[in-house]
Amino acid sequence: MSSTILDVKDIKKRFRQAGGPLSGLLGSERYVAAIDGVSFYVKENETVGLVGESGCGKTTVGKSIIGLTDIDSGSIVFEGSEISGLRGRKFAPYRKKMQMIFQDLDAALNPNMQVGAALKEAVNVNHRLTDAEAVRRVTELLDQVSIRKSKLARYPHELSGGEKRRIGIARTLAVGARFIVADEPTSALDVSIQAQIVNLLLDLQRAHGLSYLFISHDLPIVELVSHKVAVMYLGRIVEMGLSSSIARSPRHPYTRVLWSSLVNKGEGRRVPGGTDVRPGPGCRFAPKCPAYFSMGRPRECASEPALKEVSRGHSAACHFPY
Ligand SMILES: Nc1ncnc2c1ncn2[C@@H]1O[C@H](COP(=O)(O)OP(=O)(O)OP(=O)(O)O)[C@@H](O)[C@H]1O
Ligand code: SF4
Ligand SMILES: [Mg+2]
Repeated sequence: MSSTILDVKDIKKRFRQAGGPLSGLLGSERYVAAIDGVSFYVKENETVGLVGESGCGKTTVGKSIIGLTDIDSGSIVFEGSEISGLRGRKFAPYRKKMQMIFQDLDAALNPNMQVGAALKEAVNVNHRLTDAEAVRRVTELLDQVSIRKSKLARYPHELSGGEKRRIGIARTLAVGARFIVADEPTSALDVSIQAQIVNLLLDLQRAHGLSYLFISHDLPIVELVSHKVAVMYLGRIVEMGLSSSIARSPRHPYTRVLWSSLVNKGEGRRVPGGTDVRPGPGCRFAPKCPAYFSMGRPRECASEPALKEVSRGHSAACHFPY
């Protein structure tokens, strides 16, 4: 049985929302709890999908894991070592093994650097290679991500979206990543290219034994690539289980709504109705929950439900799971 590569426990992160210039002095600052107590683990060679509508905190979870965002509390254990709070040289050895494919296609690419130079820089992060060794390694990487050698002299603006994505993936492999946060790796790409990128990620996982946290709002793609899926709503995981159970027999009302909004509209960035700010102390989904209203607003929903096992390996944070 494969071992756990990443174990995230009860992480929290609040961001201060921009207010007026005097909001700090007047004590009227507002905070948004981007992550409000998230726990999950990823095993070696496994893909965990993280889904949820825009703004629910998916990217913040990914950035927290790879150290780009400092968490307020909680624990992040990577390959058996606590890494939250580590900085600089102490974090560097882990940072090479944990990489992020950014939501923004251009984020990982220096616009002033040719593809070849960028990849050469990346392969030299771990070991100082001779020129000949670096060229050999870069050629190997291009081959792995199916990019022609003629693209080495290109600048990022001369590449297509799919090519930028492939080069971004090659960079993560170049530095020796074992665990990759793939943040919406297929968004902003044509449907045919999306399938190619998904297949590339699956092939690389098989070839190198990689683990992924695969972030997307696209449940069908997440179901295709993930072993397990976690569904996030307003900073919390509300349902988690094997990808087939989450897709075929969701137990949390939010997952059902998310699914039906995807199926009915082809996409589901937002669940309709109400506000996206957490209302009060009770269940955060209550203002939009069809079950809550059809049951006549039961009292139980006035307390926040914990994520509990509803069947083997399947958990939901709801007092009345389906
Ligand atoms: N650096 C920041 N400063 C202030 N607020 C932030 C910051 N980063 C994220 N947020 C807020 O935290 C919440 C979660 O944002 P996040 O980007 O993690 O969501 P997401 O699920 O990745 O959304 P999307 O699907 O649109 O990418 C949002 O309300 C967002 O506005
Ligand atoms: S706890 Fe109540 S309000 Fe919350 S999701 Fe379940 S039924 Fe809906
Ligand atoms: Mg995001």
